[in-house]
Amino acid sequence: MVKFEQIKGFVFDLDGVIADTSIYHGKAWHQLADELGVTWTEQLGNDLKGVSRMDSLELILKTGGKENDYTLEEKEKYAAEKNTNYLNLLKDMDQSAILPGMADFIRSLEEHDYKLSLASASKNSPLVLEQLGLAQYFKNRIDPSTLKHGKPDPEIFARGAEVLGLKPEECIGLEDASAGVKSINGAGELSVGIGDPEILHEADINFTDTSQVTLDNIKKAMDVMEMS
Ligand code: BG6
Ligand code: MG
Repeated sequence: MVKFEQIKGFVFDLDGVIADTSIYHGKAWHQLADELGVTWTEQLGNDLKGVSRMDSLELILKTGGKENDYTLEEKEKYAAEKNTNYLNLLKDMDQSAILPGMADFIRSLEEHDYKLSLASASKNSPLVLEQLGLAQYFKNRIDPSTLKHGKPDPEIFARGAEVLGLKPEECIGLEDASAGVKSINGAGELSVGIGDPEILHEADINFTDTSQVTLDNIKKAMDVMEMS
């Protein structure tokens, strides 16, 4: 069992962990699902979290039984359309989109000399970090276009530790998506799930919202894990 004192780095998801952009991703996918005639459900919205742009489109089409209805070219056009809608929703986004407590948490990690990296599936993450005014904290980022496999595969979180020069067991991964928690666990890092504990039941530690994510609370939760 890993001890709090062994932790040297934190690997962050972005959408739904640092910023409330997962709501905008959901809105833009919902819009496209309506256009494609695929029924939108809460379950579909949750399953899409953390999943790459093209894999998300494939999942929507599969859910509607339409996986064989479109050519690659058409799918690329729909994915681009979703991204245009998403970027429109982001246009006026600023620091107020940072989720409660996360700016303080990130600053406190820096003050305590922890290393930080970003393991976001989003190709828009550089832009989002800039708009949030947090780019300087995340110089270590995984470019999702260099991945062989998206979340839930462990690759992105494994690389998140690697870029910091750390072993997976020296890192904590933070995620709001079930696919992301699976990726953290597969990489051998300690997983912190942020959101509904039923959906994120595979996480080692769960916080229902970002305001609970503090170094103190993580230490307390790890101490309890160690004792049980
Ligand atoms: C993830 C989001 O962070 O990035 C997903 O949770 C999104 O909803 C994925 O589909 C890819 O994002 P983008 O910006 O590259 O389309
Ligand atoms: Mg997320």
